[in-house]
This record gives sequence, structure tokens and C-alpha cells, in this order.
Amino acid sequence: MLRAVVRAFGDPRQVIRLEDAGRPAPGPGEIEVRIRRAAINPSDLIPVTGAYRSRTPLPFVPGFEGVGEVVRLGEGGTGLSIGQRVLPVGASGLWQQYLVRPADWCFAVPDDLSDDEAAMAYVNPLTAFRLVDAAKAHFGDAAGQRIGVTAAASAIGRMLLVLLAQAGFRPVALVRSAGTAVRLAQVFSGEIAVRSAPPLDAVLDAVGGAPGDALFRTIRPGGAFIQYGALSGAQLDPALVASRRGDVAFSFLWLRSWVHSASRAALAEAFALSFAGIRAGFLGSAVEAVLPLSDLPAALARQDDPARSGKLLIAP
Ligand SMILES: NC(=O)c1ccc[n+]([C@@H]2O[C@H](COP(=O)([O-])OP(=O)(O)OC[C@H]3O[C@@H](n4cnc5c(N)ncnc54)[C@H](OP(=O)(O)O)[C@@H]3O)[C@@H](O)[C@H]2O)c1
Repeated sequence: MLRAVVRAFGDPRQVIRLEDAGRPAPGPGEIEVRIRRAAINPSDLIPVTGAYRSRTPLPFVPGFEGVGEVVRLGEGGTGLSIGQRVLPVGASGLWQQYLVRPADWCFAVPDDLSDDEAAMAYVNPLTAFRLVDAAKAHFGDAAGQRIGVTAAASAIGRMLLVLLAQAGFRPVALVRSAGTAVRLAQVFSGEIAVRSAPPLDAVLDAVGGAPGDALFRTIRPGGAFIQYGALSGAQLDPALVASRRGDVAFSFLWLRSWVHSASRAALAEAFALSFAGIRAGFLGSAVEAVLPLSDLPAALARQDDPARSGKLLIAP
């Protein structure tokens, strides 16, 4: 079978290689899944650079999100059947044709969702739920607080704009260019600003670096800054964060931490909400293209294209 492999950290376009590999048999409690679609997300590429090298053993197969069908069952009851579509979660490895995972880490996909929809039902929707819950926990009550969402035209940014409004907050879309603002205005009728729109009660930040520092300084006293990404390639200034200027609470939020501490029931509940939001149309993401795994180098080059208007999916 064909798989993508990382054997050394570095620029994803240089270090992610395609290779042939054997198909290990599923052990007790495990299933083998034939991957039908896998997403390419920024969060798949960050570990490849070595940003989390202390917790990323080499070699590894990238890809945290995708959908496949069960093709082999290990011994013992797995609760799943051959042909059933599942979302394997909790570890990378989706950028290959076949994946063996414990059945406990696989969630059944409803028949009415397409493969494309199912392949994007995990990372961004579940993270968006956690971020909105974190905002609710900070303020106790959602009462129209102005919450800035950076990289607001991203797949998760668009979800946050909807979920924050549904929760009773006032989302403010923050983008990095006027061009992105124009594009986002076609789908979001609320406030959109380039970089900053003070005063803000909180910021959900996927950018970090100097733009994050500037935003941190504009948050109202007693507000919150929750960082969940670093698209700029840098973190906030640690001295600024440590100063707790205006008693602004700073925290990181990583889906991974929650997924590995949540019960299976809590994960199943989150997936049910995600599937419902996709059906209702506000948690789906646009697809730019579906490419075979053999075209992964081309897909990775396209991932950085500023003209990209949706997710790139791999069909292994
Ligand atoms: N913490 C977690 O567990 C977790 C989970 C899910 C996602 N994330 C993070 O969420 C972020 C977005 O993910 P996604 O899948 O939604 O991405 P995506 O759909 O691929 O969108 C990327 C967006 O980022 C914007 N962007 C790129 N570099 C930027 C910069 N330096 N400053 C401002 N905007 C920038 C682009 O803006 P333009 O439209 O202007 O080009 C584009 O809209 C990533 O950082 C990802 O790691 C984190």
C-alpha cells in the first residue's frame, strides 16, 4: 500500500515522502480501515516541522483527520462491521491507504454524510466547540461580549463566527488583508476588520506572533485571550503574557489534550453535534480539490497558495 511518511523534521514539502509499505493485520480490539478521504489541515503540517518534536516520535505517517471504511476486524468484539464508515481519531496516520486503529478510537459515520463532509467533521468542529465552551466558562454568561476571531476566513474561523453568535456572543471577524475581508463578507454579515477592532472582550487566536501581541494589548480588563494556533509561525511575547496586563487571562487550547482526556461518550456527543451542524450547513467546509495520495506533493504545494478557497482532500 502507498503511504506518506516523515523520517526527519523539516519543511513539509521536502520531508514528507511517499513509499510502499506492508499492511499490518489488526490485533485484538483493532480494525483495519481503508481510507476514503483525508483532509490536509495546518495542524497536520505543524508536527512535521518539528514544532512538537518532544512528543512526535519519528518516523510517522501524517494526517489527523479523515474517513474510511472497515475492511478487517481483529479478534474480539469491536462493535463495528465490515463496510461501515468510521472516523479514526486520536493519532495521526490518515495519509495512507490502510490504517489499523483500536476500534475504541473509531466513530461511526451517519449514512447521510458524504465522504467529503465526514472527512472534515472532526478537527475543526470539535476544536470550535471547545473554544466556545472556554469563552462561556470565562465569562460565566454569554451576554453580547465582543469576541475577536483571528484568521476568521479559515475553516475553523467561519465555524467560530457562527457558534459564538449562537451562544450569545458578538463575534468580530479579524483577517489579515482587505481582500480576505471582501471574500468573508460574502458569507458573514457581522463585523469584519483587518487585524484589529478594539475594544474586544476576548480573542480566539490562531495567528500568534506580533499580530497576537497587538491584539492582547487591546483586550478589555478582565477579558480573555485563548491561543489555539500560530499561523504567523511565532508565539506571543512571553513577557507580555506574563504581565497579565489588565488582568487578561491567557490560555492555550489544543484539541489533542481534550480528546485524550475525554470519555468516549463525550467524544460521541461532540461528533453528534458536529454531524448535526454539517447537516444544518454551518459546520461544513468548502472543498478546493480532491487529489489522489500519489499527488500529495502537488497538494502540499497548493496548500500554501493564497488563492486556495477551501480544503484540499486526499483520496488515498
Ligand atoms: N489547537 C488546536 O487543537 C487546533 C485545531 C484545529 C485548528 N487549529 C488551528 O487553526 C488554524 C486554522 O486552521 P484551518 O484548518 O481552519 O485553516 P485553513 O482553513 O487552511 O485556513 C487558513 C487561513 O489562515 C489564514 N492565515 C494564514 N496565515 C496567516 C497569518 N499569518 N495571519 C493571519 N491569517 C493567516 C489564511 O488567511 P487568508 O484568507 O488571508 O489567506 C486562511 O484563511 C491553524 O492554525 C490550525 O493549526 C488548531
